Amino acid sequence: MRGGRTELLVCRDLHEMSRRAAELFVRLADTAVSSSGRFTVALSGGATPKGLYTLLAGDQFRPQVSWSRVHLFWGDERCVPPDHPESNYRMVRELLLDRVPIPQHNVHRMPAEDEDPARAGAEYETTLRAFFEVDVGEFPRFDLILLGLGQDGHTASLFPGTAALAETERLVASTDVEQHGTVRLTLTVPVINRAASVVFVVAGEAKASVLRGVLGDKRGPERLPAQRIQPVSGKLWFIVDRAAAKELTLPGARET
Ligand code: 6PG
Repeated sequence: MRGGRTELLVCRDLHEMSRRAAELFVRLADTAVSSSGRFTVALSGGATPKGLYTLLAGDQFRPQVSWSRVHLFWGDERCVPPDHPESNYRMVRELLLDRVPIPQHNVHRMPAEDEDPARAGAEYETTLRAFFEVDVGEFPRFDLILLGLGQDGHTASLFPGTAALAETERLVASTDVEQHGTVRLTLTVPVINRAASVVFVVAGEAKASVLRGVLGDKRGPERLPAQRIQPVSGKLWFIVDRAAAKELTLPGARET
């Protein structure tokens, strides 16, 4: 495990993982709203967080969140229209936004339908700089950034061998992901690393090998993009299920 600010939570299964992530979301939201009056979150796409979003919209967790104080952003997006089956926004809208009382102006979608991805990235960067009141050279500090983990070690849309991985100035990068035949927008490493809390949700046996690599392998960070996620001063959580943790032999792994 890396540093004292990293916590690994091993859960029985995907549902338990989603539940623990929902509990953490509520706790972080409560803390942020109490201290600053708002809770700023960048959401992950992919399939793993779907259970979390479903729980947050459900009767147990929805009432525990002050949704009018929550501001939702995206950690990455596929360059498709917002109603496209591949859209991370559409997935979150269906599972969460349509079911919780969050004001529309608190939802800050990436304009990924723009046929010019670089322009879309620049536009989202402008949105972030205005919202967080940060100038060029400064970075926003999200209260929470939620991340998934791909089998190749990518996270958000920071894929191995792409220029976005090396970005140190911009907040948002557009990236041509040849491995997937898609173009995407992604928050950059320096933005993610300045979050107060970064939470990876990882589930399934197919992720066991890459999770071991991310958590246990000290080789160069460029080998696995997710290894570059090391919060400057924030806390890092890995909330995983037993199947994903099956190759881990690390001390400090808490079973739930
Ligand atoms: C996306 C995500 C991406 C995802 C990983 C894991 O837009 O797809 O941001 O980084 O988190 O690919 O995806 P699964 O959760 O579907 O395994």
